[in-house]
Amino acid sequence: MADLRFDNRVAVITGAGRGLGRAYAELLAARGAKVVVNDLGGSLQGHGSDAGPAQEAVDAIRASGGEAVANTDSVATEAGGKAIIQSALDHYGRIDIVIHNAGNVRRGLLKDLSYDDFNAVLDVHLRGAFHVVRPAFPHMVAANYGRIVLTSSVSGIYGNQTVANYATSKTGMIGLCNVAALEGAAHNVRCNVIAPGAVTRMAEGLDTSQYPPMGPELVAPVVGYLAHESCAVTGEILSSMAGRVSKIYIAETRGVYQPTWTIEQVGEQMTRIDDRSSPWVFPPVPSGQMDHILRSFEMARKGAGAAD
Ligand code: NAI
Repeated sequence: MADLRFDNRVAVITGAGRGLGRAYAELLAARGAKVVVNDLGGSLQGHGSDAGPAQEAVDAIRASGGEAVANTDSVATEAGGKAIIQSALDHYGRIDIVIHNAGNVRRGLLKDLSYDDFNAVLDVHLRGAFHVVRPAFPHMVAANYGRIVLTSSVSGIYGNQTVANYATSKTGMIGLCNVAALEGAAHNVRCNVIAPGAVTRMAEGLDTSQYPPMGPELVAPVVGYLAHESCAVTGEILSSMAGRVSKIYIAETRGVYQPTWTIEQVGEQMTRIDDRSSPWVFPPVPSGQMDHILRSFEMARKGAGAAD
């Protein structure tokens, strides 16, 4: 199979000065994309700024014969997000790909977490996604082309200690992705979520000794596929870590139908409600939500043994 290329495609990658984002930027640029390397360059907690990381990534790309420009606006504000997308339009005249990857971390138990720390993480991850997707989306719709990749996390989706802000953001990314996939479907705009894992500064302190090598370059091809014209999926969540690629689904059990319920009956029926041996319901995305709800309802009404 010939190499999949990104010639004439323009990509914005947030947080691309370090870690995973830099690996994505280097791979896409090596395959012909023009890349806006966005990175505010602050600390892991999101304090301060430093133009160094974005510029170093751009220098490395150019040294390898690629095309890239640095951008140091913060994705945490509406104005910053607009400026990041505008940078692509100013330098390259179009926007084909948005990979929202920037991230910060502020840990704290839920009983202690401050509003400042909650908002600082939502601003970069979750609102940050909206801050770049919102200004890019009309251009993609008008061009009848777009590829969007949002970044989630298994510790966000499945939960972890001390990351209420992060988990809220990373799960919220899934809802935004589903709507972007749905609204983009008729315009050849596809949106997917990556749940990556790699040894970067964000993973410092984690014990990865039981895993095979976990470099960001193992995740980059998965994001590259999701960002490519040939990407055949939309509204999906792919997990990629240490060489393993899998799909994460949100699914429902078939459910139990009764025309009326009491509190007691909910408790009594919990085993059947949670019957994981029955056919799972995987809401197709993009889909009309009501279609899926009605189908699920019919499955529950048909009862045990019924397939979709
Ligand atoms: P990293 O800390 O190496 O890179 C994140 C980059 O985002 C940094 O260079 C930082 O300067 C930049 N950034 C932070 N705030 C910004 C802002 N307001 N505007 C623009 N840039 C900003 O971290 P890593 O590991 O490469 O993380 C990338 C993404 O992958 C994040 O969204 C993270 O939550 C996610 N992720 C990473 C995992 C891992 O194992 N490394 C696991 C799960 C998710």
